[in-house]
Amino acid sequence: MRAKTTTEYSPGLAGVIAGETAICWVDPNAGLMYRGYDIHEVAEQASFEEVAYLLLNGELPSVDQLGKFARSLAAERDLPRPIMNMFRLMPKRRHPMDMLRTGVSMLAAFDPELNDNSHAANIRKSIRLIARVSTLITDGWRILQGEEPIPDKADLTHAGNFFYKLTAQVPQDWQIRMLDTIFILYADHEFNASTFAARVTASTLADIYAAVTSACGTLKGPLHGGANEESMKMLEEIGTPDRAESWLKKKLAANEKIMGFGHRVYKKGDSRVPVMREIGRDLGKRTGKEQWVAICDKLEETMEREKHLCANVDLYAAPVFTMLGFPAELNTPIFAAARVAGWCAHVVEQHDHNRLIRPRSLYVGPEMRPYPGSASDGAQDRQSRNSRGSRTPSEL
Ligand code: COA
Repeated sequence: MRAKTTTEYSPGLAGVIAGETAICWVDPNAGLMYRGYDIHEVAEQASFEEVAYLLLNGELPSVDQLGKFARSLAAERDLPRPIMNMFRLMPKRRHPMDMLRTGVSMLAAFDPELNDNSHAANIRKSIRLIARVSTLITDGWRILQGEEPIPDKADLTHAGNFFYKLTAQVPQDWQIRMLDTIFILYADHEFNASTFAARVTASTLADIYAAVTSACGTLKGPLHGGANEESMKMLEEIGTPDRAESWLKKKLAANEKIMGFGHRVYKKGDSRVPVMREIGRDLGKRTGKEQWVAICDKLEETMEREKHLCANVDLYAAPVFTMLGFPAELNTPIFAAARVAGWCAHVVEQHDHNRLIRPRSLYVGPEMRPYPGSASDGAQDRQSRNSRGSRTPSEL
């Protein structure tokens, strides 16, 4: 006797509308909007601070509002000392995404407004989270490398400080602009898996730190944010553009998933790819490492011919991060440093218009059957009792 479902079942929730949002729209035909603005215009003209403000507040900031927002972010960047000590106590072999998830979870204990889910408190906590997620990544990484964290620089932007605190090198203007654009591209993407995880957590009226902790755990997986680390391993394995086609055909013949390809929503191309690809070409010329984008081009061409599958942003993000000088292990944390703005905006929206997110499942287990008695009766007893016949639920 299976439980009857009245609604249509969609594995993986594909195509299911699970809620409303005014933050972001993903157009399956290769488009993306933040609060009504086209991602391409935003990526070209805005700063990450402006985009974070837009996502959180619904409108672009005035000059004064932007200045205040940037100063608030800068003021919240430092981490409580016990978090640094906790990082030092963690085992040496750890992934920076695990450090980040643990760090976000621990930050909750230091926020005096933790359990206030009002709109105003959530916005203040969002600013703290956007500021500190970056520091958890930069300082955590330096501690992991056996180096001391370095203080930020007041004259650098959010992206500039991320670069500086990670590498201890003052980045050039073009490097800051590139990272800013990358942060903008990654800032939000409606009900992607990590944002949905954050919204599910927030929908129980759990706090924003609990929601962002859930999101960090979800982002790590290679089918989501982890794909940009895996893509770099793939490009390194291929090595040169002339090997790309045969490598890909072999993997497809073996039915393997190719990282950086495919998307649940986009079927005609990922809106972010053209911008990321251009950054990759530019960096290739600047660094003399033009082979990475050439390999990606070849993979795209072959994948289109063989499977009609489009590249997603993570394919090009991988070599872009490498050419900017970041180790591949940091690819997913860099994604998180940007996406935290989207996660927070979605938690604010969820708490403002909350309804518990609790879907049903389709039961595929055994039919109703009689309970054979306690395990302490022994298997023998259980067997003989079963052979004597079973009682139907109506006899109980
Ligand atoms: N490599 C090879 N085949 C792929 C593929 C990939 N990256 N992505 C999808 N496919 C194939 C599937 O195997 C399936 O083939 P089939 O119909 O012969 O079984 C078909 O394309 C449809 O894909 P489906 O599994 O329904 O897509 P999905 O919406 O469930 O999954 C992803 C979406 C993103 C999880 C999937 O494309 C994927 O695993 N990509 C690689 C990881 C990645 O880059 N993630 C970052 C996303 S931004």
